[in-house]
This record gives sequence, C-alpha cells and structure tokens, in this order.
Amino acid sequence: MTAHRFLPSGPLTGRIRVPGDKSISHRALMFGALAVGRSRISGLLEGEDVLATAAALRAMGARIERSGDDWVVDGVGVGGLLQPEQALDMGNSGTSTRLLMGLVASHGITAAFTGDASLSKRPMGRVIDPLSTMGASFTPSPGGTLPLVMEGMQPAVPVTYRLPVASAQVKSAVLLAGLNTPGITTVLEPVPTRDHTERMLRGFGAELTVEEADGERIIRIHGPADLHPCDITVPGDPSSAAFFAVAASVVPGSDLVIENVGLNPTRDGIFRVLGQMGSDIEKLDEREVGGEPVADLRVRHAKLKGIKVDPAIAPSMIDEFPVLFVAAAMAEGTTVTSGLDELRVKESDRLFAMAAALMAAGVTLEEREDGLVITGSGGEPLRGTANARVATHLDHRIAMSMAVAGLASRHGVEIDDIEPIATSFPNFTALLDAAAS
Ligand code: S3P
Repeated sequence: MTAHRFLPSGPLTGRIRVPGDKSISHRALMFGALAVGRSRISGLLEGEDVLATAAALRAMGARIERSGDDWVVDGVGVGGLLQPEQALDMGNSGTSTRLLMGLVASHGITAAFTGDASLSKRPMGRVIDPLSTMGASFTPSPGGTLPLVMEGMQPAVPVTYRLPVASAQVKSAVLLAGLNTPGITTVLEPVPTRDHTERMLRGFGAELTVEEADGERIIRIHGPADLHPCDITVPGDPSSAAFFAVAASVVPGSDLVIENVGLNPTRDGIFRVLGQMGSDIEKLDEREVGGEPVADLRVRHAKLKGIKVDPAIAPSMIDEFPVLFVAAAMAEGTTVTSGLDELRVKESDRLFAMAAALMAAGVTLEEREDGLVITGSGGEPLRGTANARVATHLDHRIAMSMAVAGLASRHGVEIDDIEPIATSFPNFTALLDAAAS
C-alpha cells in the first residue's frame, strides 16, 4: 500500500494524451490470440489488467510481444487454445476473468482462475450460468466467486441467452464462447452496453449480426469462426479521460485539451451528463480510429449545476460514476443518481466507497440503495481531509476520483493506496502533475 496526498491544484492547462482504451485493449489481445497469423496492435493500454490478459493468453499458447511501440500477437486459431499449466492470475481484472472464461468454455481444456482480494469478492455466477448451459462445468468458491476451476466443453452447445443484467462482460463471455461453438449462439440484450466485442469481432472476420426487435438487440455469432489477423489502433480511453475532464471542469482557470478520446456512443455518457450540468467541453477534430469515433476534447472550467441523472444513461458511463460524484460535489444544487445497483459489484462497492470518501472530504450526501444524492458546494473548494485517509478498497477508480477531489479542495485529500491506479492508468499521476504545473 502506498498512501498519497493529492494537494489543491492550480489550473489544468496544455495538452495531454490518455492511454489506450482498456476494454478495446483486452479484446484486441484476445481476438489476436484466436486469429490464425500475426496481428499488430498500436496504442495498447499497458496497464496491469491488460497485462493479466496477455499473460493468460500466453499461458494458453499465443505468442504476445512488445515490438517497438506496438504489440504483436501470433494467434493459435479458434479452437487452438492449450491447457494452461498453472492457475491464470487475473489480478484485479473482472474483464480478463469473465471474457477469458467465455473463451475457455468452448475449448476442451481445464483452467483455474485466481485474483486479488477485490476480484475474489465479485460475482462470477453471471457468467457461470450461461456458460454452464453451453456445457462448461465449474467449481467456484462459495458464493460463485474466485478462485474457481472450470472445464470447457468441446464441442459446446449453442444457446440463446437473454442478459439478466446490463453487462458487456457477460454479453462478451457468451459471444466468445460462441466463437468455437458449432451453430448460432444468440445473445438478447434488452439494455445496450458497450459494443466493442461486436465491432471488433466483425473486423476480425467473424460472422456476427446485430438486429433490433421489440426494443432489444439480438446478437448472433456463427461458430466455429475463422478469425483472420488484424492491425488495430486502440483509441484513448474515455473512462481515463473522464478524470481529467472533471478535474479541468472544477478547477478554476483550467483550459485543457485531452487528445485522442474514444467517443463510442455506448461509452460517452459521462460527457453528455457533464454537458447537462453546464460543463464547457468542445469536441475538436472528430475522426475515426480503429473503427471507433474519436475526438480531442477541449475542457474549460465552468460553473456546474446539479441535475437528476437519467438512470437509462448508466450503462454508457458505468465506470464514470465515481468521478461524476466528484463533479456533483462541486456543482451548485443537488445531483440525484439512481438505478446504479451494478456499482455495488465493481472493483469495490462504489456507492459505499464514494459516499464514505466524499463525506471524509467534507461533502454532504445521502447514500441510497441504488444511488447517491449529493449536495454540491456551488463551486467552493471541498474541505478535503485533515487527519483522515480515504479508503480506496483496491479500486483504481475510487483512487483517481478522490485525487480529482483533492485538486479541488482546500486541504488536499489523502488516499490510503495509489497502487491500484496502475491497473488501468499507469501514468495518471505523471499526467496530472504535467497538466497542473
Ligand atoms: C467492461 C464492462 C463493464 C465495465 C468494465 C469493462 C468491458 O463491466 O465496468 O470496466 O470491457 O466489457 P460490466 O459488463 O460488468 O458492466
């Protein structure tokens, strides 16, 4: 554990570039590992979560190496994953775990999955259920958690599965299992979630269709798929950009350009909500990178106002609520959020963790079962923490959100551990120092 005090900051200015998108990076490695031949990835996020995916894929036979600024992946072909000799250590990464479980499910191999204390509390039943109906078998820890051992089934059985929770990880686990399953595997998605799996699998040559009927998305994958290698450019991560967008919005005098931000409509909810709160965020040089919409964002300080956040927008900003709560704490008036039950099963219980952290920093709020109600300071700096240390519960996004709160405070905010930040945003503090100097 490495404690750190984030001090009040002057304006954030200049230009920064956030690292590659975490969701896209995981998928680029996985699909590259299943293609026949060599894929090249530029802009890969070199965070611990993505490196855990790379290590697991290597343990199952793929060759993955850094080559200059890029990464090259020599795939084994769909159906070609090998039995790993040791347990696959997933670290803190739910995405690695759930998506790789999908891959293993339709290969005739047995794999053990382990993770850190945070990941070992997170529910895996949501992927165990559909993957079991496809033929895989599981020995999880009590409560359906890691560590667990799973045995894949080859050939697996194609299923039609309606997602009971709005989760791109569950959707992707089933679709990835479908890659090596003969026939058509179908996922019904009543609430749209991030669609990187669908976009990228098509790019790799999978026969995947998306249709809309009766208000839900119907995603079909034809297996077994033949994936051809691809060259992929990973856009910057909007979830990482969000910390800087909020920081520049709440610190007076800021005028910051965040370059290369992915703005996939299933991911850009935070920017829409900040817009509703009165932020000043301008999209510059809108373009396409790696099949995803991208822009540079110019963010200037603005007076934010509290709003009622529409719960329907939640899936498109599910990872950005912790930092939205910081924006709400600096806004004028009250911000009401609801429909956020999923936040309780992320890297930490993010409603509980952010309520406790913000209260320790002097914010007035109410924690409800499915959201927070936050009374903003009207732009006045937050008090900050004097003798208290904020608990981050092994959650990178709690750490980075409270870092932003520290910048906008009178006394700074001390957090108990900055190490988890390296899971998704290894150069976060360096970029913060650069922008705030
Ligand atoms: C992710 C999906 C989301 C998100 C996570 C990454 C993905 O999780 O919170 O950080 O890459 O598919 P859920 O699908 O569980 O909501």
